Amino acid sequence: MKKNVAVVGTGYVGLVTGACLAEIGHSVVCIDNDKKKIASLKKGGIPIYEPGLEEVVKKNRRAGRLSFAGSIAEGMKDAELVFIAVGTPPTPDGDADLSFVEAVAREVARHLTRYTVVVDKSTVPVHTGEKVQETMRLHGKPGAQFDVASNPEFLREGTAVKDFLHPDRIVIGVDSPRAEKALRELYAPLQPAPLIVTDIKSAELIKHSSNSFLALKISFINAVSRICESVGADVSLVAEGMGHDARIGKSFLKAGLGFGGSCFPKDLSAYIKMAEEAGYHFDLLKSVQKINADQRQWVARKLKKALWNLRGKTVAIWGLAFKPDTDDLRNAPALDIAAQLMGEGCKVRVHDPVAMDKAKPHLSGVYYAKDAYDAAKGADAVILVTEWKEYKDVDLKKVRASLHTPVFLDGRNVFDPKAMAALGFQYHSVGRPSA
Ligand code: UDX
Repeated sequence: MKKNVAVVGTGYVGLVTGACLAEIGHSVVCIDNDKKKIASLKKGGIPIYEPGLEEVVKKNRRAGRLSFAGSIAEGMKDAELVFIAVGTPPTPDGDADLSFVEAVAREVARHLTRYTVVVDKSTVPVHTGEKVQETMRLHGKPGAQFDVASNPEFLREGTAVKDFLHPDRIVIGVDSPRAEKALRELYAPLQPAPLIVTDIKSAELIKHSSNSFLALKISFINAVSRICESVGADVSLVAEGMGHDARIGKSFLKAGLGFGGSCFPKDLSAYIKMAEEAGYHFDLLKSVQKINADQRQWVARKLKKALWNLRGKTVAIWGLAFKPDTDDLRNAPALDIAAQLMGEGCKVRVHDPVAMDKAKPHLSGVYYAKDAYDAAKGADAVILVTEWKEYKDVDLKKVRASLHTPVFLDGRNVFDPKAMAALGFQYHSVGRPSA
């Protein structure tokens, strides 16, 4: 059943959510108070790099199912559901900054004209639903009819459109049958994806628990990689042997330079904080954070072994975005690694297929290369930090010839140690023996 929907926030989550809700047949207005962003969206601009998003936005704008507005007043006029999809960035002490969520809740309350389901799509700590409810009661007209719901997103950058249209599950946290009915109708076109209905608090915790568990798997295999490295075992074989156990599963057991992005680091610190407030010391997640931070030191450790003194040496970093198929640099390992190496006196040459323009304001004093080969030119080592397909397909003979010293640090275990040794590289990877 077609619904009128407003989505507040046109970032990774908001724009994907709005465009995909239109794609499954609803009438959607995406709202943002960033006038420049809205102006660009109205001209067909897409402010983020997300494969497939531009096509979905274009198609649904043409179909008249998707439009943009610069204010909540304008955008939510006919809305039956209003999604809050604004940022919840980490505060310095690791809390989630919910001031944008609060501002939207106030504004929505002021503009309610009919029963509306206000849906929290942003990743928020438990109890946020209650706070949104209180805020709306405080700022809305007396007797205003609305319900609040939680509908966490499980979108991965780089596959967000696919993840939305083909979800493993849809979680809705509600405390009224009316809100449940509205959300069931909204997501009906995504059947047969399982739709899990919970109370609001449980839905809020599902998001943080899911992300933290995924981060835990990554830190676990990275901790195992350290043991493999010292005993001479191969962590990719250990992960393969583990992953065949259906209870463990194959995914998120890739050892490497650890996780970055806007979600795992933020959600881990928010969960730890939230647990403290609930009287629980989540030491397990603190270890996940520590292992992840340590993994970024792997590069300098390995380079010192391979090149002895680092001062004056030239190193090439392949990949700046926190993972392939995105231009997102938030918590990207490459930025830390580049800073560490410059601190050791290295000259750093960097390349990324997509994220270099976004990197320039955050990373100065490095050479921005034209391509992977240019980055490697005259370098004493290549460090593969982000496993873009472009690097997997690179002509390794050409790379070897352009290097001053044939040292290759493979931070994502992309290449085969024997093949790399045969090509004349001094090859190091994470948790695997060199040839
Ligand atoms: C993640 C969750 O997957 C998604 O469900 C949630 O909604 C948002 O956070 P995202 O951060 O976009 O999505 O990327 P993801 O593909 O999950 O990778 C996260 C990080 O883990 C990346 O830095 C990646 O390099 C790293 N990673 C992933 C590993 O180091 N090893 C793995 O095996 C998998």
